[in-house]
Amino acid sequence: MPLIMVFAECGLELIPKQIRSHPAVKKNFSSRIYSSQLLDNTLHFSAMKNLKNFQKRGRPDITHVCLLNALGSPLNINGNLIIYIHTINNKIFKFNPEIRIARNYNRFKGLIAKLFIDGSIETETSKLITPFDGSLKDLIAKFENPEIYIFSSKGKLVNNYEELFPKDIAKNYFALVGGFQKSSFSKDIITLSNKLISISKHPLDAWVATNRIITYYELTYGIL
Ligand SMILES: C[S@@+](CC[C@H](N)C(=O)[O-])C[C@H]1O[C@@H](n2cnc3c(N)ncnc32)[C@H](O)[C@@H]1O
Repeated sequence: MPLIMVFAECGLELIPKQIRSHPAVKKNFSSRIYSSQLLDNTLHFSAMKNLKNFQKRGRPDITHVCLLNALGSPLNINGNLIIYIHTINNKIFKFNPEIRIARNYNRFKGLIAKLFIDGSIETETSKLITPFDGSLKDLIAKFENPEIYIFSSKGKLVNNYEELFPKDIAKNYFALVGGFQKSSFSKDIITLSNKLISISKHPLDAWVATNRIITYYELTYGIL
């Protein structure tokens, strides 16, 4: 019954070693400040241009806004949303539905850099962000009866929520939304499912798509 939301290929990573000596990186980098260690194309654009897949990298803001939308949704507050992020470097993390992530962008960047460095985020009493060891395929295999939707502006247009999420409590619906700026999903993602779905005639920002997908699911189950 919970919706499993996966932000896929998120542009989230520590600044790669090969560009750490670039002036655009050195200008802002401090080994004592976590937030300065995360790749961010607003700051590091000139250093990133030779990185493979650079158009999909260095966009922590996209994941930040998507997470704020997902965590703050009635679906999550109701206990019916499971949230994972999958990064461009194939790291996967599960978010505790009760985590209150920083609204401030720099503090969010600090949290994610700490996550990459320490491997998880925990308090004395709870695990807030935990790693999943394995691939997205391994993750999906942990759930019975999965129905995997890959959301893309290039998918088949579905224009009502009942068609998208017919009420079926036996199914585990996965919603994959890209956490990157430009370009398309890699082959590894595309081959996870033949259900490539569009929810608008227009290409949307990832957080707008996230909001609408969650709302569709809430409408199916009457969650307000
Ligand atoms: C900024 S887009 C990535 C760029 C890419 N041109 C695209 O539209 O797929 C971020 C993500 O939002 C979702 N998205 C954007 N437009 C969508 C649409 N019309 N229908 C469904 N999902 C969409 C997709 O998951 C996409 O990967």
